[in-house]
Amino acid sequence: MRVGVLTGGGDCPGLNAVMRAVVRKGVQRYDYDFVGFRDGWRGPLEGDTTQLDIPAVRGTLPRGGTILGSSRTNPFKEENGVSRIQENLVKHDVDALIAIGGEDTLGVAARLTDEFGVRCIGVPKTIDNDLSATDYTFGFDTAVNVATDAIDRLHTTAESHMRVLVVEVMGRHAGWIALHSGLAGGANCILIPERRFDVDEVCRYVESRFKASYAPIVVVAEGAMPKDGEMVLKDDSHDSFGHVRLSGVGEWLAKEIEKRTGKEARTTVLGHIQRGGTPTPFDRWLATRFGLHAIDAVRDQDWGKMVALQGTKIVRVPISEATSKLKTVDPEMYEEAEVFFG
Ligand code: F6P
Repeated sequence: MRVGVLTGGGDCPGLNAVMRAVVRKGVQRYDYDFVGFRDGWRGPLEGDTTQLDIPAVRGTLPRGGTILGSSRTNPFKEENGVSRIQENLVKHDVDALIAIGGEDTLGVAARLTDEFGVRCIGVPKTIDNDLSATDYTFGFDTAVNVATDAIDRLHTTAESHMRVLVVEVMGRHAGWIALHSGLAGGANCILIPERRFDVDEVCRYVESRFKASYAPIVVVAEGAMPKDGEMVLKDDSHDSFGHVRLSGVGEWLAKEIEKRTGKEARTTVLGHIQRGGTPTPFDRWLATRFGLHAIDAVRDQDWGKMVALQGTKIVRVPISEATSKLKTVDPEMYEEAEVFFG
């Protein structure tokens, strides 16, 4: 059996750990061969491959990013995309593909398997933790650690100057990073995309925090939006590659807080720091287990399945189960956190 592997979408700490586990178990237990496809679906689309064997994955467990590179290429948006992939799989003697990615990458894998018979197995990946059917995705814990460390640091500088510190974290559609890091970091207000926020209410929290002689920390997910729709996205809300850019809510909110409360406010946008660097032990553990189970799914020829964490067990679910609906923050979980607001 010769297995192709690709990593698509935004990179994420733990991608290399998945591949290391796939290759180690595949070679040592099943005597499989591997080939790496570069830059997500661009690799099989253009036949761009790289060596993927035990030496290639050696030393990669703690390394962030992806040794294969990544892109957001979607073969369904390219001319003859599917047939080009099929031809390249034949050309490189590839029997099966392991696609490691988020909603878009896995959505392509699901369609290729279901509609065209391409033999794919999926591994879920996103720092946003918004894929359904799995309790956690690797990369999320690392992002929460980075954000929590930043919030801890911002508390001390905020208190020294008695300023409001607004921390913008990633999460376009789901507020998991904001909720987890906000709770872990003792934020005084957490704003998520799932629930439109009221700026006056945020200002009330800020003022009550000052009254208690503390400097407020507001954690806002990049996709959070105010109720009254006042916020105008920056002109560059789409970049030249057509990617959505929702940056701006943190800056906008700090200005509104200053205007409405008369208190000095600053913004820290954590951005890609949350996605870079070494995965946490939890993410290495989860990514490694996903890899070990993904290669077993190949052995069992369980095409169209994705490995997922449910409780403490790694299970297999149809890929489409994970991609058909975003996993957003449970309102009850958000309401728990509201006890600490203000
Ligand atoms: O989906 C992961 C993610 O990190 C989001 O949280 C973020 O909005 C987006 O990717 C950023 O994408 P890019 O790296 O293309 O700017």
